[in-house]
Amino acid sequence: MPRVAPSSPRGRSVIFAASQSSTACLDDEHRAAIEKLRQERNAVILAHYYQEPAVQDIADFIGDSLELSRKAAATDAEVIVFCGVHFMAETAKILSPDKTVLIPDLEAGCSLADACPADAFARFRSQHPDHIVVSYINCSAAIKAQSDLICTSSNAVDLVKQLPENRPILFAPDQNLGRWVQAQSGREMTLWPGSCIVHESFSEQALLGLKSQHPKAEVLAHPECMPHLLEHADFIGSTSKMLQRAQQSKAESFIVLTEPGILHQMRLKVPDKSFLDVPGSDGCSCNACPYMRLNTLEKIQQCLETMSPAIELEESIRIQALRPIQKMLEMSK
Ligand code: 13P
Ligand code: SF4
Repeated sequence: MPRVAPSSPRGRSVIFAASQSSTACLDDEHRAAIEKLRQERNAVILAHYYQEPAVQDIADFIGDSLELSRKAAATDAEVIVFCGVHFMAETAKILSPDKTVLIPDLEAGCSLADACPADAFARFRSQHPDHIVVSYINCSAAIKAQSDLICTSSNAVDLVKQLPENRPILFAPDQNLGRWVQAQSGREMTLWPGSCIVHESFSEQALLGLKSQHPKAEVLAHPECMPHLLEHADFIGSTSKMLQRAQQSKAESFIVLTEPGILHQMRLKVPDKSFLDVPGSDGCSCNACPYMRLNTLEKIQQCLETMSPAIELEESIRIQALRPIQKMLEMSK
């Protein structure tokens, strides 16, 4: 029970400080429990850059989609706790079927994966029978199973450039990434009309405002952003490429057009530089991915305790989905 009446301002600040310290205490308890369970279960915790800083801080490995797939394929651990979204955990299961792959919150989906249902995609493919089907890794196992090649934002341009020039290409499900890959590779592609709710939310007006307040800042953007926003970027790349750029660039400040979870690693890796995120178009906090942010320390502890939710896949789909992922890993060595 609070000892000071909440109506007094000092009372409110005492209650706030008390609740902050009890949250910190609870987080310490979760961290200690996770550490113990991680050893007992022989588990590895993988986290994407868009996770909450507290989740990134307890991970064994943090990376972009390509690095996380490589790590999931190579680990010796018996259990993979995937702190990311469903398609990422599913990719880990496709690559490591004998391991238990846990996702702290099964509701952690993705607007891009949802925008590409398997039956509609099969119809789309049948309308373009001579096309090579290249799918962005942000899609379900059922879409991967219908694809010739998987790519991520860090290898898409390089992989598309390697495809035979006499074959037309169908690209799904992100039309913004697809347009950017077309421009970079010089290859025409037929695009599936999907998009990411986070990367479509950034306000151009807010970006221009930040640019005029910080004229020396470099603008780093993810290729899932809309084309009119990418026009303002000094550098475009996947999350890990943006992080590398922040480390290597001579600029001292950066405006970052992607999910703001990445700012945590940027600030840790280059503490002497400054990083600004860009708000959503209505000043909303919709620049944070609502799916990625479902994972918490408490849910990581719970999933290691109960060994659920675990990713399960039909073996026939897994085998078909594995082929284009392996092709990607071979082509992007
Ligand atoms: P990358 O980390 O591979 O750039 O992917 C970004 C993303 O939107 C993941 O959902
Ligand atoms: Fe999907 Fe966009 Fe969230 Fe990435 S940021 S998981 S693409 S909704």
